[in-house]
Amino acid sequence: MTITHDDLTTVANDARQRVDLWVDVITRTDARRVAEIGVFRGAFAEKLLGRCPAITEYYMIDPWRHLEDWNKPANKDSKKFDEIFEEAMAKTAEHAERRIVLRGRTSEVVDEIPDGHLDLAYIDGDHTLRGISIDLIRVWDKIRPNGWIAGDDFSKSIWQHGQSFEPTMVFPFAVYFAEAVGCPIYALPFQQFLIEKDPERGFSFTDLTGSYPGIDVLSQFSQARRRRGPAQQA
Ligand SMILES: C[S@@+](CC[C@H](N)C(=O)[O-])C[C@H]1O[C@@H](n2cnc3c(N)ncnc32)[C@H](O)[C@@H]1O
Repeated sequence: MTITHDDLTTVANDARQRVDLWVDVITRTDARRVAEIGVFRGAFAEKLLGRCPAITEYYMIDPWRHLEDWNKPANKDSKKFDEIFEEAMAKTAEHAERRIVLRGRTSEVVDEIPDGHLDLAYIDGDHTLRGISIDLIRVWDKIRPNGWIAGDDFSKSIWQHGQSFEPTMVFPFAVYFAEAVGCPIYALPFQQFLIEKDPERGFSFTDLTGSYPGIDVLSQFSQARRRRGPAQQA
């Protein structure tokens, strides 16, 4: 099933929280094979599995381990991640027959999924430039023709976690990716995005929130410099 521009406008207007939005998209598109990249405690997985009974396979991809080269607040020590993993398993235990747990980074485990297998992937893992580029590029072939890649942390500011953390580059990189593959991308409320894998429609960037800045990166550095002030710019 497809989802039209008008459908997405309705979805965006009706959703009261992030999970409502994706339950609505998954229901309207009849997506059955779904992957979540970056699962953490399993809160989102639990809600989607509970509210979308038509999902037959739910891939849960996450290393659930400390990553030395990932400078983001969600990076905990490996002992803590063992507890977080157990929590994610407990939260989704009721749906164990529908979940497929792939413990590893996207690049380590994504080839366990056959090409063209997924209706929809939801990317919510490593949001740095390195992370979002690896995730989008490696997951793209796993999506069937006319399927979707969605994701979280489509943050208007690359300084989502302040300037001591690596910038969040889901926005604008996902827009560049959509342009490269010639497909439409939508900005949705709650910092969400959706790319439809339909090259016949061509690239377009539709901001259904009406609030995203330009897709350049330089202006975000200029704003950060202005905020820091001239004394600290040397
Ligand atoms: C923001 S949390 C996910 C939250 C979850 N999607 C939710 O809504 O409840 C980010 C997760 O991404 C995982 N992660 C970090 N780097 C990753 C990578 N390269 N591949 C897959 N997952 C990654 C982290 O281990 C962490 O659990």
